[in-house]
Amino acid sequence: MKSLLEQLRARIIQEIESAKTQDELKNIEIKYLGRNGELTIMLKGLKDLSAEEKPVIGKFANEVKIDIDKTFKGRAEVLEEENLAKACSNDDFDTTMPGTKFKMGHLHPLFQVQRDVERIFGQMGFAVIDGLEMDSEYYNFESLNIPETHPARDMQDTFFIKDKYHDFHKRMVMRTHTSPLQVRSMEKYGAPLRIIVPGRVFRYEATDASHDATFNQVEGMLIDKNISLAHLKGVMTEFLTRLFGKPVKVRFRPGYFPFVEPGIELDLSCLLCDAKGCRVCKHTGWMEFMGAGMTHPNVLRAGGIDPNIYQGWAFGFGLTRLTMMKYNIDDIRLLMSGNLKFLNQF
Ligand code: PHE
Repeated sequence: MKSLLEQLRARIIQEIESAKTQDELKNIEIKYLGRNGELTIMLKGLKDLSAEEKPVIGKFANEVKIDIDKTFKGRAEVLEEENLAKACSNDDFDTTMPGTKFKMGHLHPLFQVQRDVERIFGQMGFAVIDGLEMDSEYYNFESLNIPETHPARDMQDTFFIKDKYHDFHKRMVMRTHTSPLQVRSMEKYGAPLRIIVPGRVFRYEATDASHDATFNQVEGMLIDKNISLAHLKGVMTEFLTRLFGKPVKVRFRPGYFPFVEPGIELDLSCLLCDAKGCRVCKHTGWMEFMGAGMTHPNVLRAGGIDPNIYQGWAFGFGLTRLTMMKYNIDDIRLLMSGNLKFLNQF
């Protein structure tokens, strides 16, 4: 058996060395090492050997197999190199021709900005929360201190989902803001709390250059002990300065939202003229940015948090508008258009 193995080894190695193409090499492999290959069959015969012969011949057979494998690999490499060299010296093959260009996609500008927002707030210890785009009237309105008959409901034109009614949750709506995640997050995580909620929101509105029926917002909420609007000013100044990569100032004006008390509107110093006054900021030096305020005690209570122990603030800004500000986009409809001529600029 040993000599048979030796002969076979010599024959296989000789054939491998003289293989001219990768196909030939493949055929040799099948012929000897395939399921019905000569070597395979011979190795199967090892089990019929006597107890003394088995370990000796077995060890030898193993060496044979290793030798053959090595020779195979070596020859395959040589053939591969030859192929390449042939291809490069072939007159039909012009190595100076530009190759096939692979087009890389990229994130939509809206989500490039969203990533920046998430990164900066993340660095300040805020968790990023995802929410439902369809939610109940309770979470979208009632829990936020906006009862059914409250005139503030008119501030946000709402898409209602037909045929779904629940005694407590009332109708289902396409959320008009990301604020339903305020009470949902308080219920889920309790206090203290530091979250942002980026997401799509929906309003039943006619569209024009600055209004769309679908747009993106980012909600923010911070709840802890001894919290004031000074913290909001600090966080927003830091956030906007990091986002735009230059010092940005913010200012508060009074504003009204039923879920905050006091409520404010936050403006930022005009990015184009650095607050000197220009056409874009209508010569005021400021741009409107977002609504915010100290969370109303009713809202804290709705979230199961005791307003005598904890205070907090919340804000909501338009990610769509922020993206438009950052890239100087003058028509909101472009952002949702899927128009590649527009999108490929980012
Ligand atoms: N949800 C409000 C809006 O969409 C913004 C806001 C959020 C205001 C949080 C105050 C606090 O207009």
